[in-house]
Amino acid sequence: MQHLNQLQALRRQRAEWRQAGLRVALVPTMGNLHAGHLSLIRRAAASADRIIATVFVNPLQFGAGEDFAAYPRSLERDSDMLRDAGCDLLFAPSEAEVYPRGRDRQTYIEVPGLSDQLCGASRPGHFRGVATLVAKLFNLVQPEVAIFGEKDFQQLLVIRRMVEDLNLPIEVVGVPIVRESDGLAMSSRNSYLSAAERAIAPRLQASLITAAARLRSGANVAEVELDAKAALAAAGFEPDYVSVRRRADLAEPEPEPEHETRLGLGSAEDRALIILAAAQLGRARLIDNLVCDLDAPLAEPARNLRP
Ligand code: PAF
Repeated sequence: MQHLNQLQALRRQRAEWRQAGLRVALVPTMGNLHAGHLSLIRRAAASADRIIATVFVNPLQFGAGEDFAAYPRSLERDSDMLRDAGCDLLFAPSEAEVYPRGRDRQTYIEVPGLSDQLCGASRPGHFRGVATLVAKLFNLVQPEVAIFGEKDFQQLLVIRRMVEDLNLPIEVVGVPIVRESDGLAMSSRNSYLSAAERAIAPRLQASLITAAARLRSGANVAEVELDAKAALAAAGFEPDYVSVRRRADLAEPEPEPEHETRLGLGSAEDRALIILAAAQLGRARLIDNLVCDLDAPLAEPARNLRP
């Protein structure tokens, strides 16, 4: 595996692979890799001839008072893991290489609407920072396909919208959440949890499972959201949101006007749902989500429920 940190060297290698007719997959990360990231590399291998992974802790997506300085950095270990997983090129640039004019003088990419709600409401500027960095990586690498985890579901939709709005010829692929054996979604920030917090953390997923079951048996959306937040607070989290949204566009599902359909929600898009949650637990901001299809037969488990 090549390990590069200069833009020009990355461009040269990419041009060589283009000339050779090779299809390239990009896997952007902030490092401190875990099994979730490795599933992105496996997905990349299935859809391209060459895999480029990036490790860059992007200062633009952290707000004042957030954990930019403390964010775990483990480049040597990340490099070993990527090489063993079959990655062809690791690009790990310095901040000066990515933002040569400085963080405050960088041209930004804004994805309006999708970026301002849920995590975007609590972390103003976060998705602008993500979209700006990802757009730069897309321009540099010009991958045929780019792979992102579905744990950051809002991020995935923001990136898809950016690609659509800017007419970028890139396929954006989402990969299902990888979980610990007790259901906790894998995250680089899990390392912030104390032993006591780690024992509580799987309740985030548990609250989503309960919420999905209640929605599927006809409970009111607002009540389900409120009860899930209350359950998280009672367990020791500081919940930010638990929100039931349409999976296609993160809009709030519309009730069916005459409440004729089962569960009282309108069109097919209003019944293809996702429940998203974010909560602080000690130093860690945890996020998770669960697909909830109201039209799926009740016996069938939702897609990312563990068996
Ligand atoms: O999901 C992440 O790790 C980051 O937000 C990303 C996409 C690598 C951009 O910095």
